Amino acid sequence: MARVKKAIIPAAGLGTRFLPATKAMPKEMLPIVDKPTIQYIVEEAIQSGIEDIIIVTGKGKRAIEDHFDSAFELEHKLLESRKLDLLEKVQKSSRMADIHYIRQKEPRGLGHAVWCARKFIGDEPFAVLLGDDIVRSEIPCLRQLILQYEQTGSTIIGIKPVLPEEVGRYGIIDPGRQQGDLYKVKALVEKPEPSQAPSTFAIMGRYILNPSIFDCLENADAGAGGEIQLTDAIQQLVASEPVHAYHFEGVRYDVGEKLGYILTSLDFALASSELQAPILKALDERLNLYRAFTG
Ligand code: G1P
Repeated sequence: MARVKKAIIPAAGLGTRFLPATKAMPKEMLPIVDKPTIQYIVEEAIQSGIEDIIIVTGKGKRAIEDHFDSAFELEHKLLESRKLDLLEKVQKSSRMADIHYIRQKEPRGLGHAVWCARKFIGDEPFAVLLGDDIVRSEIPCLRQLILQYEQTGSTIIGIKPVLPEEVGRYGIIDPGRQQGDLYKVKALVEKPEPSQAPSTFAIMGRYILNPSIFDCLENADAGAGGEIQLTDAIQQLVASEPVHAYHFEGVRYDVGEKLGYILTSLDFALASSELQAPILKALDERLNLYRAFTG
């Protein structure tokens, strides 16, 4: 069985939920404490054994390339002023992996973004990681999916249950036969009406895909939201080969919308030994003030 060595990180989205912050800055560069969200994704890919990463960018995304490039002047200054811990952090992001870039010329959806990277992938299984989902887990989330791929050789989708009223925000699977946390997928639907959803198992931005997906994407029509959906292409794949979904271990953070982003920042800050105590103190003070104010 071929090893999963390559990953696609789509990063061409417009980031409209965070306007005006994302008017001149890619949403993938929004920081969680002191690291841009996309660095968490790249780190997960590398920790999962990925060797080559292709980031699908679009207009206004240059800052992503600069972030993973070396910054000679800055590094020189940090070295001169003996700020070695900062120097290490800055250098880390430019020494992470082989990162390649390709542009999606028009925002036509996730399926189209993946299709844009087909020549880079060739004829081997590959991973897709979406930047709006950050996962904190014992074993990196993508690694968990790769381990399942090594057992089944089939396309694997990372899933988590969501609340019934939330299904309309996700791709939802119709689960078939279950073996532990692994489900055979009978069907998938992108952003269903809650009354039409086949389950509450939502696709969480991590995929291992067989290259046969490109045949499905080749002739894909626009789906939900007028975009070419990866979910629809995987639905086509279900007709010709087995597809599985894996309920991975770990906490999944949604950094693609405001509340999720703020709560993620808070959780990650609370996990930092330097920030935990002052944040708890400040939260406590604010809660007391708020309670006194609202009676
Ligand atoms: C995308 C996928 C969807 C998935 C979601 C996870 O949707 O199309 O199937 O459930 O990511 O975050 P988006 O959030 O980009 O609209």
